[in-house]
Order: sequence, then C-alpha cells, then structure tokens
Amino acid sequence: MKQPAPIESLSAAQARREHARLGEEIATHDRRYYTDDAPSVSDAEYDALRQRYEALEAAFPGLTTPESLTQKVGTAPSEKFAKVRHRVPMLSLGNIFAEEEVAEFAARVRRFLGLGENARLAITAEPKIDGLSCSLRFERGALVQAATRGDGYEGEDVTANVRTIGEIPHHLKGHPPDILEVRGEVYMTHADFVALNARQKDAGKTPFANPRNSAAGSLRQLDPAITASRPLHFFAYAWGEVSALPASTQMGMIAAFKSYGLPVNPLMVLCQTADELIAQYRAIEQQRASLGYDIDGVVYKVDDLALQNRLGFVSRAPRWATAHKFPAERATTVLRAIEINVGRTGALTPLAKLDPVTVGGVVVSNATLHNEDEIIRKDIRIGDAVTVQRAGDVIPQILGPILDKRPKDSKPYVFPDKCPVCGSAAVREIDSKTGEPEAVRRCTGALICPAQAVERLKHFASRNAFDIEGLGEKLIEQFFNDGLIKTAPDIFTLPERERRGMINLREREGFGELSVNNLFNAVEARRTLPLNRFIFALGIRHVGETNARRLARHFELFEALRETARAATDGSEARAEINNIEGIGEVVAEAVADFFVENHNEEVLDALLQQVTPVPMEAVTSSSPVAGKTIVFTGSLERMTRDEAKAMAERLGAKVAASVSKKTDLVVAGPGAGSKLAKAAELGIETISEEDWLKLAGQGD
Ligand code: IVH
Repeated sequence: MKQPAPIESLSAAQARREHARLGEEIATHDRRYYTDDAPSVSDAEYDALRQRYEALEAAFPGLTTPESLTQKVGTAPSEKFAKVRHRVPMLSLGNIFAEEEVAEFAARVRRFLGLGENARLAITAEPKIDGLSCSLRFERGALVQAATRGDGYEGEDVTANVRTIGEIPHHLKGHPPDILEVRGEVYMTHADFVALNARQKDAGKTPFANPRNSAAGSLRQLDPAITASRPLHFFAYAWGEVSALPASTQMGMIAAFKSYGLPVNPLMVLCQTADELIAQYRAIEQQRASLGYDIDGVVYKVDDLALQNRLGFVSRAPRWATAHKFPAERATTVLRAIEINVGRTGALTPLAKLDPVTVGGVVVSNATLHNEDEIIRKDIRIGDAVTVQRAGDVIPQILGPILDKRPKDSKPYVFPDKCPVCGSAAVREIDSKTGEPEAVRRCTGALICPAQAVERLKHFASRNAFDIEGLGEKLIEQFFNDGLIKTAPDIFTLPERERRGMINLREREGFGELSVNNLFNAVEARRTLPLNRFIFALGIRHVGETNARRLARHFELFEALRETARAATDGSEARAEINNIEGIGEVVAEAVADFFVENHNEEVLDALLQQVTPVPMEAVTSSSPVAGKTIVFTGSLERMTRDEAKAMAERLGAKVAASVSKKTDLVVAGPGAGSKLAKAAELGIETISEEDWLKLAGQGD
C-alpha cells in the first residue's frame, strides 16, 4: 500500500478530498461487512482507514459534519447475526418514474395475460414505505422468526429485536393459516426520529441522518434492549410462505392481515384504470409531507392473486407489481475529476468525482457519466458546476453542467483513447447490426491488461459466481499484484502451494492462522459448484446469470456446452443449436463461440477443471412432469399468451425451443399449427393440445 502523505502537509482542499474518498471507502466496507456479510479487507486495514479518517477530522475540524462517519452510532457490533434462508425469496420491485409509464405498466400486464383493452384488470395502489423490509414467520399464530431481507435469499435473524416492536403481535388473532410469513416494512415516524435524535444529543451521542437509517440501525442491534428503547413501527404489505392463502386478492390478503391484528397501511386503494392509479399517486404525493413517516413512491400491484401467479417474475422483480417513484432529488456541486475505470470486458467507464454534496439525505461524491457520447453531448467539463440527481438506491447521475458558472479557462473533456491501466489502444468497435460505433470504448489488451484480469477474478469469486467467502475484491487485488493469483485456477492451488512452502500466506501482514484456515476452507467448499454458477463465473460476454442458467439447463454437462461451443463456427449446426435455446440469440451465441475458440481461455479452463467440478444445476421444479424436457409451442394459444406459456414452462423446469428437432420432447400445438406440427409427426414427437398442456402444468380445470 502507498504510504499516505503526512496530515500536516495537506492543504485544506487535499484533506477534504481525501476525507470524502475515505468516507466512501469506509462506507463500502461497512456495507460489505454488515449488510453483505462479505468483508473484503482485514480488520487491521479497516482500522487503518478509520484512523486516518479520524485524524483528518482532528486536524481539519470543518470536515466533521452530521453526515461524517465519526458521528454515526452503533456501527460496529462485535458479532454478526445468524443467517436465515428465505423459503420464498424476498424480491425487489421494478421502478417507473413518469406518469405515462403507468398506462404502459397496465398494458404490459394485459399483453402478457392476453387480456383485451376492455377486460377488467384491478390494480391496487399503496404508499412505498421508506424503511427496511422484514419477514415475520408465524406458526400456528405464534411469531417464531423475524428476518431482514439481506440479499433477498438470505437475511439476518432479528427475531429478538422484532419481539420488542409493540405494534407486532406475538400471537395473531382470529384464524390465520398454520404457516404464515408476513412481509412488510419496519420504519420510524418523523416524530420518533426527532425525539430519538434529541435523546442521542443529550446523551452526547451523534444524531442519525434520516428515519430510514435510524430504523435500520435500531433493528440491527445486537442488544434487543436497545431496539426496545427505539420506537419502531411496521406495515404489512406482502407475504412469503403461506400454508393456505386466506384470500384470493391482494386487497383480501391485506384485510386478512388486519383481522389477525397486524398493522396495514390505510392508504391502499383498488383501482380499475391507469387514470385512477395516477389519481391515487397524486393523492398520496399530496399527503406525503403530512403522513408522519417517509415514503418514496407508490406501489401498484395486480389485485387478483391468480393473475399474479400467472404473471410471475422476471429476474428479481414481479411482473405483477411496480413502484412509481416520486421525482428524484437533486443538488448542485462541482465536478473535480473524471476517473476512468476499466471493467472485466475492457470497457472504459467514466466516473465523476464530485465535491461531496447531500442529495436526499445521502452524501454523494461519485456519480455516473454513462459513456463518452453522453459527456460530449452534455459538454460536461472538469471544473464545471453540475446538477446531480439521486433516485433510490441507484448510483447518482450527472444531469448536466450549469453553464453560467463555467470557469473561463475550461476545456472540453477529451476521452482517453488509451487504456489508463495497460496503455493498449482503447477503441469503439462498430456494431455489426447498426454500422454505428458502439457506445462503449474498450481496451484492446484483453490478455495483457491487468485491470481486465483482476476484474475477471473479482467476478469469478463474487457472490453469485463462485462465492468464495473471505476472498473479497481488495484481497484479490493484493494477491494479483503480488503474483499469488494470476488466473482463476490459481485460487484453488493456494492451499497446496502453502502446504508445499511455495508461498507463505500465514506470514502476510494482516493474515494469521485463522484467516488463512478460513480462506482455505472457503476455497475447498467450492470444489463443486452448480453448472449455471460455473458458467456465469467464466465472465463470457453477454452471459449473465439468466443466460448462464439457460445454457446450463440446455446442456446439463459442461463438456456438452464446451464441445458444441467449440464447433459453433458461423453458420454451423452447433451455432444454430445455441442460437435456438429459448432466450438466447445471435449475439450471445457468437459471444459463447468466441469465448471457447480462444486458446488462452481453453488453457485456463483445462487448469480450472483440474481443480473444480461443475455439477448439474438444481432443477427449478424437479418434481414437475416436464422438468428437463424441451418443449416447442406452435399455432395460436387461446388460454394464454406465448410469453406466458414460455414463462410457465420455464418455471416448471422445462426448456423452450423455437423450432422442432430430434431433441424436442414435446410439442404443444394450437389451432393453425403448420410445419412444426408436421415435423413433429415426422420425428414421432409427442404432440398435445393447449388444454392438455395446462393440465400437465397443473393449471387445468
Ligand atoms: S411489495 C415482491 N409494497 O420496496 C414484491 N414493497 O423496492 C414485494 N417496499 O423490497 C414488495 N413499501 O422493502 C411492497 N407497499 C410496499 C412497499 C414495498 C416499501 C419496499 C420493500 C421492497 C422494496 C422494493
């Protein structure tokens, strides 16, 4: 690590910049440690960052603001919470911002369900509470477990703390289902927030930044007595596992929750049209300031649960709901620098470094500038005063420069045409479809560029890929810089190299017996891995988690994918096979083929397969009669749309293909089916009607 400059030698501006940068860095580590449970630096490194941060504040008192990290309370519990795996994932919501998008949302739902414009479609509207979501599990009416959302799949066990929230019953009234997981938002009212901050101040402690933070900080306390002393509230608005649904609509479910004694939001209404939804949005926005608690938008949900079920989910958000967010908050600050980061695919992405500014209760000092064209189009220059916008949890954006405040000597920004990391030419490829240059400029030094190599390694070890606990981004950077890990297989030879005395991790600064053992155990735990995660980890261009899953489902074995991909030259049958996988198109098929023909990748793969074994991915619903089968839909379907049929098949663990081949197991044919039906007959493939398909899928009458 570079030795930091002595604090006495810093100018006020230098100190301010370093303080802001450190603040960001520490906040990131806090998030990794507390929220993600995946710290990427040692405690010693973390402490060093904090010490420097505090020393800066001691030398430059102006840096201590209410937002400062030194002013936050209770950030460092000594142990972590136990983890709870959510039986039904806690997903997030898609967002819309403009009123026009409300009708689009309703139209999308109608299109998916094949509902005509005049068919009834009831949608609820309710406030989006700005707190933290929590899942409460009741068994035979008794509260048995409470968990935070965490990453959506695994949260923290906060049962003892939730039991101290007066509004949440320990026993439900009436006749709730035997198993009922109620989901909702834990929040703090404005009045309680102000009173809590006054108490904090009296006790010589520092106030919280906003009600959301104080609610989160209060719930995630290791000592339930502290939670009990902090007034928290709850609104129930969703559910997870339920043994028998007490109602068939969203409104009905919420009414049932209310009858069990759970608090529900009074502003939820049922609407029949997009105009009614917008009217409710405006009505809620009008009341926003007087509600007494923070909300950040309005949530729309399809009321009928059978329709919700048909609509299902796309990646991590339901198709049947969306959040209509209130307009983003804005602020003005100065753009100090444009930093160029190089990603794993060589993309050069510009990051704006700003004078820290508070936007909607959060201190912002980085913002995205999207890409080169955007900087040119908006003529954003270093030194400009700029408008920053922050909406939700996304990285803040720069809207544009304030021209009246532009310094006289400013010059247009010139985007680098060399990779700032390896010096290779950075070019914009021509998009083969449009004939236009791509928006992104990329480093051409794929094999020699350390930034790409290290970003690939980070991706490889990341949570949704190999998920190697303890091997965080910082450590990967260090190991890479020290030559301990150059490519992914090197991760798996660490234990062997240590045993043979080729390396000596135990003697590394900040490392000890325990951390080395933990790391090695984490490495050993990943010697086998579901194929979809393995494919995702390879970092093939355009192959994210969804496409990785599609490939894994189709090929089942890694060798099958590899063999086909190697043979998948332009126009080959192998290329067509990949292209024909539902959801995968030409661009992805080409990227997959490109990856496997690259000799360097093949070498790394061979070395990797010596170390780890991909195993078949967990089937989505292995018990379904169509799990693992390849289905083709043809002709017109009458009871559902094509999209819906596909989604249903995929949910049941089947693959959907676009054309009939020897590999097809089942053809679902509606009226008007033509050549595909003939081909199926010729190949002797089982063909069924839409009606039979619904029965097979367990949706028949
Ligand atoms: S419904 C499957 N309703 O917003 C979707 N979420 O951005 C279940 N939230 O994680 C969520 N108020 O923490 C729903 N009335 C409301 C909400 C709400 C706040 C939060 C929730 C969710 C996040 C998504």
